[in-house]
Amino acid sequence: QPKNIAVIVGSLRRESINRKVAQSLVELAPDTLALEIVDISQLPLYNQDYDEDSPQQYVQFRQKIAAADGVLFATPEHNRSMPAAMKNAVDIGSRPYSKSVWDGKPGAIISASPSLQGAYGATQHLRASLAGLNIYCMANPETYLSQADKLYDPAGAVTETGRALLKRFIDAYAEWVARF
Ligand code: FNR
Repeated sequence: QPKNIAVIVGSLRRESINRKVAQSLVELAPDTLALEIVDISQLPLYNQDYDEDSPQQYVQFRQKIAAADGVLFATPEHNRSMPAAMKNAVDIGSRPYSKSVWDGKPGAIISASPSLQGAYGATQHLRASLAGLNIYCMANPETYLSQADKLYDPAGAVTETGRALLKRFIDAYAEWVARF
């Protein structure tokens, strides 16, 4: 029985590199993992007033995360941090207080940027939030994909270089999940 892994993509745009990366991970994952991208684009901005009576989108999102055996984050970098959409999803899953759906799950972060730096800042900020939520984040291989647009050819297929990097990452994550 494969472990169910929820994949959160921190970009909402149609041509997102991070979504392509996430889709590649779905395809490259060993059969011990079943990855599913969980949509965060319809989540209203987190508001603590909704803790009592949450919008349906919050309820469904929390249910999907609660049901997952692990959580994988593919994040872009916006102004040296994670995008607001990603932080919003993290916050929604963390509440109501003491009802966090993240607690104790094995996690991993991968980041992709067309720049030379590879979204290191976004990863570090996200890692700090996940540590606070008791998500056990895989430490290595750290995977900050720089010039990540070049990992896909014009037809949208992943290059050999990209494939090797992503395969290494997802195989290591499968080993990480197996420890739990
Ligand atoms: C960016 N981008 C960016 N890139 C980066 O490497 N470091 C950064 O700090 C930022 N800051 C930033 C802020 C905002 C508001 C936007 C819209 C973009 C560029 C970013 O890496 C690029 O748009 C990626 O393509 C975003 O990832 P997706 O959407 O392709 O997955």
